[in-house]
Amino acid sequence: MTSYTLSKASPAKTRADAVVVGVVRTEQGPRLAAGAEDVAAAYGRRLHPLLTTLGVTGDEGETRLLPTADGITSPLLVLVGLGADGAERDPAAVRRAAGAAARAATNAATVALALPADDAALVTAVVEGWALGGYRFTAYREETRSEDTRAPEVVVLSAAARRADVQQAATDAEVVARAVAATRDWVNTPPVDLTPPAFADAVVAAHKAATKGRGAPKVEITVHDETSLAELGCGGILGVGAGSSAPPRLVELSYAPADAVAHLALVGKGITFDSGGLSIKPGGSMTTMKCDMAGAAAVVQATLAIAELGLPVAVSAFAPMAENMVSGSATRPGDVLRIYGGTTVEVSNTDAEGRLVLADALVRATEREPDVILDVATLTGAMVVALGDRISGVMGSDDVVADVVAAAGGAGEAMWPMPLPPEMKERVRSSKVADLAQHDWVRWGGGLFAGAFLREFTDGRPWAHLDIAGPAFHSGGATGHLTPGGTGAAVPTLVAYARHLAATRSTV
Ligand code: BES
Ligand code: MN
Ligand code: ZN
Repeated sequence: MTSYTLSKASPAKTRADAVVVGVVRTEQGPRLAAGAEDVAAAYGRRLHPLLTTLGVTGDEGETRLLPTADGITSPLLVLVGLGADGAERDPAAVRRAAGAAARAATNAATVALALPADDAALVTAVVEGWALGGYRFTAYREETRSEDTRAPEVVVLSAAARRADVQQAATDAEVVARAVAATRDWVNTPPVDLTPPAFADAVVAAHKAATKGRGAPKVEITVHDETSLAELGCGGILGVGAGSSAPPRLVELSYAPADAVAHLALVGKGITFDSGGLSIKPGGSMTTMKCDMAGAAAVVQATLAIAELGLPVAVSAFAPMAENMVSGSATRPGDVLRIYGGTTVEVSNTDAEGRLVLADALVRATEREPDVILDVATLTGAMVVALGDRISGVMGSDDVVADVVAAAGGAGEAMWPMPLPPEMKERVRSSKVADLAQHDWVRWGGGLFAGAFLREFTDGRPWAHLDIAGPAFHSGGATGHLTPGGTGAAVPTLVAYARHLAATRSTV
């Protein structure tokens, strides 16, 4: 595992196998970014022509390796493009650049990062970007390739390295990056190996690792198996899981620090594979459906991270897990399910399964009387159509939505507010046989219908729904801090939102 140390040393004088510097694009051509002043000075007047000859522009994602000049202790210089001039002050741009650099400096055992890092937000971006851009999922590879060896020792250079808030930012960033990576691992695991029971076991193991030892936080965990779910009357989770030979689960975590100033409930969709059920998906739409448990993975990992960070916020997390499959015991279109608490729902499309498992879990969450509920789900293709695959849609109580979107911005994630228009209420209540319709075959506004459906189970509490169907899984090649497959979407935002609660509630 990579170790990170923070140092105020000069990048030119730091001994490492490679030193990473940023490049920004200016009207006068490329220029080394903040943090690399000593390196630029060592090259002196040769730097500009050298960059020009190398064709370096400073564009985002560009990387180049070159031998260092006299006066620089490390033998190799890694250049990474940050983008336009202002990028060196933008944590999101620095996070992406650090991610790209992590893939350029392979085989270096020690690396010094001389990227813009003179405040806490930039240091967070450097550490998270480097850790996540270098992420690889190798559990299923026999041979390890040379790119699999990543620098085990990283020195983050920062003029503010002695400041307490900057040091805290660096260690906190490692916690968040580890939570994101663990979420990616679970999403990337083949669905045959991450059935609901296996996923629940993996959460139990992660919980155990996070809570053992002196000084570790206290977090309670409960796993409801199919028998317990039947006793509780969790008809949504049981109905969705009915077609699979792997039974469903509901995992509940609770972190209740003595100094809690607020209580946050997190609910995450945990469909370990979504075939669509009897309303089966076309083959092409099924290929990435192992990612349909990304919301559950995110809320579990965010909860453990919030506990590890010791934030003064109580967290109750709910991860309903089921596999949506086809068999003689599968739920049929036309069936009516009784959600935990008694509300009945007419199923008309078994592929709209996420809202059914979330309904049980949301009602469970309201029973804890939290101040706020956030649910996270790869819920609708409609949201991907609306916002693309890099932006999550956020719906719910206006003030919670605004706070979540703001937290996402600070955490380097793209989220956008979406409305829950009043007419959705009628559509959700349009079943001729049950209290609610799960789906109504109206083609438009599917992401909003789903949000309005979930709202029915929130008991009027402050709540927001994060539809991460697009961002949860990255189908392209590595770019910035994003790597192929699971992304860990929403984990940084959930932690940032808990921080926001801690900061705002403690003053009132
Ligand atoms: N898991 C899917 C949503 C999804 C789509 C996630 C693309 C990630 C990428 C969800 O369960 C689903 O199938 N939704 C349906 C709902 C419809 C039947 C109302 C959809 O979006 O098509
Ligand atoms: Mn589905
Ligand atoms: Zn689904």
